[in-house]
Amino acid sequence: MTKIIETMDMTVAPPETEPERQYYFIRKLQIWMEERKAQLGRPLTACVTTFGCQMNARDSEKILGILQMIGYEETDQEEADLVLYNTCTVRENANLKVYGHLGQLKRYKKQNPEMLTMLCGCMMQEKTVVDKIKTSYRNVDIIFGTHNIFKFAELLAMRVFDASAKKRMIVDVWKDTDAIVEELPIERKYSFKSGVNIMFGCNNFCSYCIVPYVRGRERSREPEEIIKEIKELVADGVVEIMLLGQNVNSYGKNLEHPITFAQLLKQVDEIEGLERIRFMTSHPKDLSDELIDVMTHSKKVCRQLHLPLQSGSSRLLKIMNRHYTKESYLELVAKIKKAMPDIALTTDIIVGFPGETEEDFEDTMDVVEQVKYDSAFTFIYSKRTGTPAAAMEDQVPEEVVKARFDRLLKRIQEISAEKTQAGAGAVEDVLVEDVNKQEEGYVTGRTAKNYLVHFPGDESMIGKIVPVKLCESKGFYYYGKVVE
Ligand code: SAH
Ligand code: SF4
Ligand code: F3S
Repeated sequence: MTKIIETMDMTVAPPETEPERQYYFIRKLQIWMEERKAQLGRPLTACVTTFGCQMNARDSEKILGILQMIGYEETDQEEADLVLYNTCTVRENANLKVYGHLGQLKRYKKQNPEMLTMLCGCMMQEKTVVDKIKTSYRNVDIIFGTHNIFKFAELLAMRVFDASAKKRMIVDVWKDTDAIVEELPIERKYSFKSGVNIMFGCNNFCSYCIVPYVRGRERSREPEEIIKEIKELVADGVVEIMLLGQNVNSYGKNLEHPITFAQLLKQVDEIEGLERIRFMTSHPKDLSDELIDVMTHSKKVCRQLHLPLQSGSSRLLKIMNRHYTKESYLELVAKIKKAMPDIALTTDIIVGFPGETEEDFEDTMDVVEQVKYDSAFTFIYSKRTGTPAAAMEDQVPEEVVKARFDRLLKRIQEISAEKTQAGAGAVEDVLVEDVNKQEEGYVTGRTAKNYLVHFPGDESMIGKIVPVKLCESKGFYYYGKVVE
């Protein structure tokens, strides 16, 4: 749906302040869009492909919001009039996927010379990547980074209206920023649930991780802005939100009026009409008693916690710069389980960090055995240029890593299946997310603990929370039945 901004005087120069400046360019592009549509006798389409984490997913919703306001029609066909890849660089294989797509685009662009191709996201914050694209993928029109997504309309306008820009690639990547630009349109993927950024960037510099280099320093949003955004989302039909940050436990420390994450969570908890609250990611090093207390006493904060372990070896954790040990992690888990015996715990684990010995790996297996995660993401260590770990010697041989990885994954899946089985028979509130595409007459939803459930239902149930009996466990998910 195209919203037209009626009241803007386009004869004056663009405003200097944000977001007004962007609305000026959006308006300019809306007028252009109407003309193009009339000329072509069809709408212009845009295809946005997102790689990586929830942060990127939310950024893509912001870009789609602007695209829709301009008048583009969203499509999942890569032969669109505008194609954008929002990239991730956390592991090498994320990068390879993007290059694969760029190769294909060359062909599509031959068929439709007017097609605009854009790249943004974490990969673009790396100079070596941008250099490679400049030389090997010259058909890319616009490159921008993670710090200036809000400038999307301005960059697009530059390309569309500036004749000289048509011949060259526009590259606008910022190293870092203090600015947080609010109040631009956002197009949510789901009507009933939404991510909400509470902070940007990361200051932790875990020695294997590239995120601090590509997302910049930690910046928290003002609590009032966050609460206002969530209230608006709730008024618009959202029942579940996910508070997003690379380390939510350090939220608010650097604000003019400092506030803790637990205090923010308490404020969010009080928002009327909101049913479920999740958050990601929680770094074990700063998870406070105050947070456990707020979670314990809240009815809306889901009994689910993602607590990345990375490694169970205190020796490796130190080299990883994680600031906790195997023992302190296990103590924290014990404390959380004591306060909330029914909590679902999930984690991230890296296998094959430089210098990982059999003994280090056994420590990881031991933590997995003791904690009994409901589910876990396991990753093979990927060397990221520029991070301290990349320069470390004794990288572990590939076949050793692969064997450890398989062992870990097997155990994780077994535990996961046991946990799922143990939950069978219960009645849980399930938020219906979609109709089941594989099985007609079925819908799919999630419990508060984030387990998937398939059960008989129809489209009209999407976005509603219904009590469902978890009749049968199928490894990692359930088949259920709505109880009256
Ligand atoms: N801020 C979050 C993680 C963001 S990245 C946190 O601290 O938990 C998501 C996950 O990717 C990490 O938890 C880690 O397990 C994994 N990861 C990050 N860098 C990696 C690398 N170089 N190789 C393999 N996995 C990596
Ligand atoms: Fe990466 Fe560590 Fe920051 Fe997470 S906390 S984003 S793993 S540096
Ligand atoms: Fe990837 Fe960037 Fe997220 S590197 S994991 S998309 S912060």
